[in-house]
This record gives sequence, C-alpha cells and structure tokens, in this order.
Amino acid sequence: MADGLRKGLTSYGDAGFSLFLRKAFIKAMGYSDDALDRPIVGITNTHSDYNPCHGNAPQIIEAAKRGVMLAGALPMVFPTISIGESFAHPTSMYLRNLMAMDTEEMIRAQPMDAVIVIGGCDKTLPAQIMAAISADLPTVVIPVGPMVVGHHKGEVLGACTDCRRMWGKFRAGEIDQQEIDAVNARLAPSVGTCMVMGTASTMACITEAMGLSLPMSATIPAPHAERFRSAEASGRVAAEMAKNKGPKPSEFLTPASFRNAQVVLQAIGGSTNGLIHLTAMANRSVHRIDLAAFDELSREVPVLIDLKPSGDHYMEHFHHAGGVPKLMAQLGDLIDLDAKTVSGATLREIVANAEDVPGQDVIRSRSNPIKPEGAMAVLHGNLAPRGAVIKHSAASPKLLQHTGRAVVFESVEDMTLRCDSPDLDVTADDVLVLRNAGPKGAPGMPEAGYLPIPMKLARAGVKDMVRISDARMSGTAFGTIVLHITPESAVGGPLALVQNGDMIRLDVAARSIDLLIDDAEMAKRQAALPAAVTPDWAKRGYAHLFHSTILQADDGCDFDFMTREGKA
Ligand code: FES
Repeated sequence: MADGLRKGLTSYGDAGFSLFLRKAFIKAMGYSDDALDRPIVGITNTHSDYNPCHGNAPQIIEAAKRGVMLAGALPMVFPTISIGESFAHPTSMYLRNLMAMDTEEMIRAQPMDAVIVIGGCDKTLPAQIMAAISADLPTVVIPVGPMVVGHHKGEVLGACTDCRRMWGKFRAGEIDQQEIDAVNARLAPSVGTCMVMGTASTMACITEAMGLSLPMSATIPAPHAERFRSAEASGRVAAEMAKNKGPKPSEFLTPASFRNAQVVLQAIGGSTNGLIHLTAMANRSVHRIDLAAFDELSREVPVLIDLKPSGDHYMEHFHHAGGVPKLMAQLGDLIDLDAKTVSGATLREIVANAEDVPGQDVIRSRSNPIKPEGAMAVLHGNLAPRGAVIKHSAASPKLLQHTGRAVVFESVEDMTLRCDSPDLDVTADDVLVLRNAGPKGAPGMPEAGYLPIPMKLARAGVKDMVRISDARMSGTAFGTIVLHITPESAVGGPLALVQNGDMIRLDVAARSIDLLIDDAEMAKRQAALPAAVTPDWAKRGYAHLFHSTILQADDGCDFDFMTREGKA
C-alpha cells in the first residue's frame, strides 16, 4: 500500500498526475524532496480562542513536531473542530460526534502514516479516540494536561468542583458578590483542563490506562516543562509507528485494554460521562462495554485516588504522587499488565518503573482505600429498564437508600423557572425529577443532572437531595444523583410517566431505582403519552442528523451509522 505523500491520492483519473500536482502545491510551502519522501505524522490542531483548556496546544504541537523530526519523519499539522466545554451551545456533547466525524475524515482524507491527536477538554479526547479507532491508523494521544490549582483565602480551589461549591455558597447567601467575583478570577489559574476528577481528567487517565498515550501523560500539569518533553517523546513514538505502519488501534486495543479502562474509571472516582464515552469508543471497535460487567467491577474495585469530587486533592497532587502508573501498581491483579502501550512497553514494564513517593496520600493502597467499592453503580428498575448510573462515591451515604415523593420538572427550562420559587412544594426528603434532558430531549443530554437544591432548601442548609434524570452530570459535581436514565423520557421512557407526588425508591445496594406504582397504572400512563414528533429545532442541518440518529446512553450516544457495523 502507498505511504507518505503517495497515500490517498486525490482522484483525477491519473495517479502519476495526482502525485505530481500534490507535490507541486506542497512545495509552495518550501518543503524539499527529502522531507516529502519521509513517513508522515499528522498532528491535529485543536487550538481555539474559544477553548482555553487547549491554550498550550501550540507549544505541545511544536514539541511533538520536534520529536517527529528527531526520529526522521515529517510532521504535518492540520486543524479540526475544537470544543471548549463552557463555550459549546447547547452542550459539548451535542458536538462530540461532529468532532469525531471531522477528525476521522480528515485523518482518512489526507496522507499520513500515523497521527497524533492533541485534546483534553471534556468531549475532545473521546471524539478523537472514536475517530482514531474508526480510521484505524497508528495513533498517539497527547492530552493537554490539567490546570494547576488556585488559592483563595488560604484555601485551595479547583475548577470545577469548587466552581459549584462556591456558587452554592453564593446562592445560599453565605458569601457576597465581591467574594464570588474574587473566586471567579481564581478558579482557573492556568490553561489546561479542569484539575479535579472531572470528565477531562477521567478521559486522560483512561487513555493512559489503555496505553494510547505515554506514561504520566494524563497528569502532568498543562504549563509544566515536563508536559512538552512528554509531547516530544510522543512525537518520536508516533514517528516510529509511522515507519513501522503500526500498531493500529485494531491491532492494539484488546478486551484487556477496555477492561483496564473500566477498572481505572472505577478506581479514580471517575466521571459518569466516562462510561458513555468508553461505550462509544468500544462500539467503534469489535469490543463492547457490558453494563452488568461494569457494575460487577464496581463491587470489586475500590476507589484509590483521593481527588475531588470524591476526595480532597487535585490532579497535580496525583501527578506528584506517581500518576496512573503508580495507581495501576496499587491496583495489582485487578489490571491486566500484559496489555500493550504505544510506547512499545507493556503495562507490566510501566508499572515496574512507577515512582514510589514516600508519605504521599493521594494514591491509596487497596488495604486503605478512599471507598471500598468503585465510583459508579449501574441501576435498573421500572424507571430505568435499560439502566441508569449513580456516582455513589460522590453521594451522601445516608441517601443511598431513600424513598421520597417526586417533584417533577418537565424540562431544563421548567427547572430553571420554578426551582427557586418560594411557592415550590418541596421538602428535603423529596426526590427531584428532571425529564426531557436526554440525548434527544434537550438535545445533547446536557449536564443538567446536577439539579440545584431549591433556593428555599439551600437557604435552610440542605446540601444534598436525591435527584434523578435522563441528563448527564459534570464529573466535577457532588451529590446523590441518578443519571442517564434509559430509555430517556423524550422517546417514551418510563421517566415520562412520573407525576408529582408519586413515590420513588432508590436502593443503591440493591442497584435499583423504581417508581412505586403498579404495572396497570404504568401501562395506562404509557398509553396516554402523546405520539413523538420531530421538534422544530431538529428540522434541518446537523440538528436533524443528530436528532434522527443519536443512540441512547447505554449505546454511548454515538450516531447509529457511526458504530463499527454501521446502521442496521
Ligand atoms: Fe475544559 Fe473543564 S472546561 S476541561
């Protein structure tokens, strides 16, 4: 098969002319024939003024290019979509599959023998890995790395667990406008991704555990010199992969890779979003994520990382304590150490070299875990026939078995309008229900599952309540929150049947979430649901594609025609 510049020629009906033309144009940039004869490593550029998390991408690209050239290959940088979490309307999840399609097609369309994808802000690494698996070209991932921590009045602050905590204090009247303004300027003190165990950190750790990035690359802080040395080393690795034409993701990713990712997801107290993304990534390959097996792991794998929101520390502390290699060393036989990595080493070799940091208290041993069980549990019941997820490591233990009266919000807008009304009929023992916030319903399954505590309860000191929805939640959030209820209400899932005043029972130990009405009443309400119609927002363009092809959370929210098998 053709390689380097000869790969994937533009179709003019004359291959010789196509190559002649391609060379003529690329020489306009000053390349020599020697350069153009080398294996090519494509490098994605996701730098954007709208994505401060990727603010160090230009420096990472320079370092990666240096590594590629030192190893004798030619780096070629190309742009793709970039998604900054807080700048994406309606949600970044709405755009993840668009980024995956863009990245996959640009990898396919342009001549390259290997690719380096540089990402980090929540949906970007999943999109890039989904693309890489589908394009099946040798791939090295470079995460942009976490921000360093901020400080306020002697307290360490981090985006975005403390964004929510401090905003909650402001809503409850515990701090004033002047102080919340000061906090606002201190929550994100550098470029890089959120430095708690949110989705970005979760995906970077999973990526490293799957061997798709170099050791320690998940945790090196974004501004540190080490981040750029790691990028240079990644460039060298990608150049070798380009020369060797492998390994490709299909040769490299095994059932053990995906199982190791799930073990690490549980052990780090990872984001619930990680489960959706991992499912979508697996569905691009021949492998699958089984929710029952994932839940089994949650009973076996303890949370070992003491990071917010499940614990106390931040990503830079995890890094200085030995990072993912040390975590995998502590996990011992729960990790399949024979799994391969892009560096050529097995996880066994990487774990053997993990740094031992005396006195560190961020990465616990299995005999002294943060939580004896994993971060997430999968629930089923008449409210969630295809499953729901709770991050019980970040929930209030006393609410993990709870029966309460439903207080229903019809949509995110309804919740925003009524949640803080003094007239809302709600007590701390109730269960807040949000519907029409799933993949199709909202659209894009917003991170609205972290329903705010109604103002009058917040002011009375209530910090947590049981909250349930078909939405997602930021990995940085804390609370007794049931998410991803599947099927979602917008496609007629049972969440659509809940009425104010119904009783709902959550029992995390029994892995159940139920609406306490009988089957006959359920059937009557189901029969009375109005027929689904295409909403106005979904009549054209990408919105139409999204609405008509998006899969449910248990299938990873990919488009139905983008899985490995394509549309049935
Ligand atoms: Fe980009 Fe949190 S906003 S990682």
